[in-house]
Amino acid sequence: MTDKQNAPANNGKKVGRAPKLDNGFYSQDIISVSQFTRENLEYIFGVAEEMRAIVKRVGSTDLLKGSVLACVFYEPSTRTSASFIAAMSRLGGTVIPITQGVQFSSVSKGESLPDTIRTLESYADIIVIRHPEMGSAQIAADYARKPIINGGDGVGEHPTQALLDLFTIEEELGRVDGLNVGMVGDLRYGRTVHSLARLLCLYDVQFNFVSPEILRLPLDVMNEIRNHDLPVSETYDVSEIISDVDVLYITRVQKERFADLSQYEEVRDLYVLTPELMEDAKEKMIVMHPLPRVGEISYAVDSDPRAAYFRQMENGMYLRMALLAAVLGKA
Ligand code: NCD
Repeated sequence: MTDKQNAPANNGKKVGRAPKLDNGFYSQDIISVSQFTRENLEYIFGVAEEMRAIVKRVGSTDLLKGSVLACVFYEPSTRTSASFIAAMSRLGGTVIPITQGVQFSSVSKGESLPDTIRTLESYADIIVIRHPEMGSAQIAADYARKPIINGGDGVGEHPTQALLDLFTIEEELGRVDGLNVGMVGDLRYGRTVHSLARLLCLYDVQFNFVSPEILRLPLDVMNEIRNHDLPVSETYDVSEIISDVDVLYITRVQKERFADLSQYEEVRDLYVLTPELMEDAKEKMIVMHPLPRVGEISYAVDSDPRAAYFRQMENGMYLRMALLAAVLGKA
């Protein structure tokens, strides 16, 4: 039903980058935030709003009745997989969840993943994949005739998280242009940071990055920000920026990405957001986190109305409902 136009039965060759969504989301792979325009974002956020209204009013709809989503996760996930499953269920579709027994092998060598994708696309209309290797979602898309959604490819990207993050910023603060955004923690390995920072380059924002030296933002992301002439600062110290930011985006140190665990031990507890630190923050600002948190935000912050991370998480379901409906041509 939604075969990608002119999709080749790829015989093992890598064919590169997912195209921009100039003609909308229908039948497209969602691999990288570099595909999106501001128009795409406005559109999908509008649909996500409608999805929220439907869920609040009646819980579900049969928009995607008869459609099947395959969810294949080669890395642990709670929110991304559960929210995609909930999203498809609330749209009346069904899910093939594959999390057990999936063995990771190097997809850049062309092993196993293409066969898995070919198998799943003969049963499902759309596939969400999470895989530890950067570039894996693009490789899957190169092989697949059905749309592929990147649910996180190693230290690469996490485009659906960036969409829900940006949706949350707009919902909470009413705008994106003119905001001062602080990003804290593991900027090196945190794929949600890479995707959100890139996506924010479509707007007029100011960046403040906070990390230890070994977890600084990768050069390619920094260069993209510089190419857009956006103001950017880097520091080790959250207290230097906390009073300036409209958005404080905190991240977990990504233990699983460290080759040397003693390096992880050195940086794991560097940043902890506490109510005392929040006293210096603006009255109207938000604290975000893609979750899971492992100590970066003290539980005492949860009752602060500026703590937006649970609302952010809920938004993920509405946004993913919108995305599934749009890619399957039913939005
Ligand atoms: C993030 C991820 O998987 O990159 N989690 C998520 O999808 N919400 C962040 C993380 O694992 O730290």
